[in-house]
Amino acid sequence: MNYVILNGKLIEKQEATISVFNKAMFFDFAVYDSVKIIKGKKFFPDFHVERLINSAKIIQLEHDFKKQDIMKWMDLLIEKNNLQDALIRFLLLGAASPEEKPQLFLFSLGVTFYNEKDYKKGIKVITFKGERTMPQSKSKDLFLNFIALREASKHNAQDALLIDSEGYIREGTRTNFFAVKQGKLYTAPLSDVVGGITRKIVIKIAKQNNIEVIERKIHNNELKDFDEFFITSTSMNVLPINQINDYILDKNSKVLTKKIIKLFKDYYHQEVFND
Ligand SMILES: Cc1ncc(COP(=O)(O)O)c(C=O)c1O
Repeated sequence: MNYVILNGKLIEKQEATISVFNKAMFFDFAVYDSVKIIKGKKFFPDFHVERLINSAKIIQLEHDFKKQDIMKWMDLLIEKNNLQDALIRFLLLGAASPEEKPQLFLFSLGVTFYNEKDYKKGIKVITFKGERTMPQSKSKDLFLNFIALREASKHNAQDALLIDSEGYIREGTRTNFFAVKQGKLYTAPLSDVVGGITRKIVIKIAKQNNIEVIERKIHNNELKDFDEFFITSTSMNVLPINQINDYILDKNSKVLTKKIIKLFKDYYHQEVFND
């Protein structure tokens, strides 16, 4: 994993640097995205590149990078870094002053695999007060995500659910949040969260299987009215929750969550691996 692509040019990892004088870096005038590669196959690359471009548009980050070129650069990086299981990260820095030019980095990172036990038993999450600025953009303004996740780790939890100023649960630090009540799925509206690719697919496959999906705000005070909870993300897929702070859901049957886990697995096996 030695190469990086900067504005379409292959460079050595050591050359992939950003100056401390770069204003875009200083002000976090940047967006990012990541594509998962497993056994050399890309997971939904079009959706991720489209989201990168859309994230830039939301924060009014102007640039000339085109989807088709980014897709080609991604393939070049896979080939040059000989990637099998990895994450390809796109980092797009804007021009925050007339002297600066937009910079698009593509680089590869390791991919995290989660325990089979977590998918069966579920994970612990905590709640954390904080609201992301321009929540629909996957912006590099990640300090809130960082401190919330750090707090989660201190409590042996795998993620933190971010609670907005009105007490609504929006999403995790790197995940979307779903709740289940009487066989129906609930998740925060797209206006309040990153439009997760996994979220989008889960909603699609749920609807195809006649499971009703309700996109509405979920208040922290109404958690006990729900039967099941799960989070979704590119690296985690669909991961059940068995504890939120001190509220333990261990005896919960997770019927619908298990069904969604299976439907999602079948979906990506077909779409990504053609099997
Ligand atoms: C804030 C936030 N919400 C949700 C997600 C989940 O999105 P996806 O399913 O595309 O990984 C992510 C990660 O990308 C994220 O950073």
